[in-house]
Amino acid sequence: MSKTIAKTEWHPASWQSHPASQQAAYPDKAALERAVAELGRLPPITTSWEVDALKEQLAAAQRGDAFVLQGGDCAETFDECTSENIVAKLKILLQMSLVMIYGLKKPVVRIGRMAGQYAKPRSADTETREGKTLPSFRGDLVNRPGFTPDERIPEPQMILRGYERAAMTLNFVRSLIDGGFADLHHPEYWDLDWVGHSHAAEEYRHIVRSISNSLDFLETVSGRHFHQTMRANIYAAHEGLHLHYEQAQTRFVGREGRERWYDLTTHFPWIGMRTAELDGAHVEYFRGIANPLGVKVGPGMTREWIQDLVRVLNPNNEPGRLTLIHRYGAKSIEERLPELIAAVKETGSPVLWICDPMHGNTESTAEGIKTRRFDNVVAELEAAFRVHAQMGTYLGGVHLELTGENVTECTGGARGLTDADLARAYKSTVDPRLNYEQAMEVAMRISGL
Ligand code: PEP
Ligand code: CO
Repeated sequence: MSKTIAKTEWHPASWQSHPASQQAAYPDKAALERAVAELGRLPPITTSWEVDALKEQLAAAQRGDAFVLQGGDCAETFDECTSENIVAKLKILLQMSLVMIYGLKKPVVRIGRMAGQYAKPRSADTETREGKTLPSFRGDLVNRPGFTPDERIPEPQMILRGYERAAMTLNFVRSLIDGGFADLHHPEYWDLDWVGHSHAAEEYRHIVRSISNSLDFLETVSGRHFHQTMRANIYAAHEGLHLHYEQAQTRFVGREGRERWYDLTTHFPWIGMRTAELDGAHVEYFRGIANPLGVKVGPGMTREWIQDLVRVLNPNNEPGRLTLIHRYGAKSIEERLPELIAAVKETGSPVLWICDPMHGNTESTAEGIKTRRFDNVVAELEAAFRVHAQMGTYLGGVHLELTGENVTECTGGARGLTDADLARAYKSTVDPRLNYEQAMEVAMRISGL
């Protein structure tokens, strides 16, 4: 082990003695401490056995026996914590997973970027408009998007409001699933209204009919009802950016003679690309929790750095523990991904590879609107499958920013959205998401790859 990665004793707050990038500057430290203490007294929103179950499924994906679909908003917002939004997100994830199961002939592990995706890294600490400079908007967990001093001051109470919404979101998802919403006997519940007669919708309905028929057939010949086995699980994930939030719900759980710390704000937290410094606070926090972890990897990652990250975050080479989510962009993936894979192979440690074809493909229109081209998203995905096949590794999943709504944030896709369409229904406060139809199209492309 190299000298830089000799680590001292870990505890849920040990990250505080490491440099923490992308943290909000709270003016009232005592108020922050009070909010963190209050958050810590609330019950967790996930359990350690769910977290362990997900880790096993990620280990299966690592072996090539499953495929991961991770998707949701770039940033959830407090305003959009509504019944309609949650239902739409659940539906799109279920529909995409169905298409992928059908095409890939493998179980699909569904993970929402949801129930806590409220904190965002920013490229600058401040934002200047017409000569006025204010702190950047860092997500609803921290401050508000409006451009006034009041709205931009980090407000400690928002971690409590965020946690409550995360709990409500996951509670509603669980109730829907328990109530049979995700039952394959009733895929009509999953249909979205606005899709009409698009090409993708026809293809989807064909898949659904075919699965329903197969299910009926199997039940008839076996005399068994498959309700329980067909129940779809959805796990929660978010970027573990706001370390006070994560720390507050970090719990020591002892089961079957194993005692470990779990981050129970979510199942699957990930380290963003801007906070993966080896000696930084985020890596320090993440190395001590037992959850499966993701790390976003993009341009700038070096051989030594990724090898050290793998050693620090998965010192026992535990299957399912570490997922590397690469996001190079359609232009550089073919040049850069092989080196990354080779470097990780040298460690001998197992990782799950997931492709995020969104974050390396963000661009601005002439009017300064952030967008992504559907063709670049698909091109990066295709390249990812190709490179992994060449390197003898398995691409075990995809990480997407998407919504079940009919927004116009990314261009291209079956409807050929152009820059001029973006103004029509652009809702994201941060990155542009695939809309319902574009997301379904991506799922179909993956099934065909
Ligand atoms: C994100 O996932 O929204 C994000 C900020 O990604 P990255 O850390 O890869 O830039
Ligand atoms: Co994003």
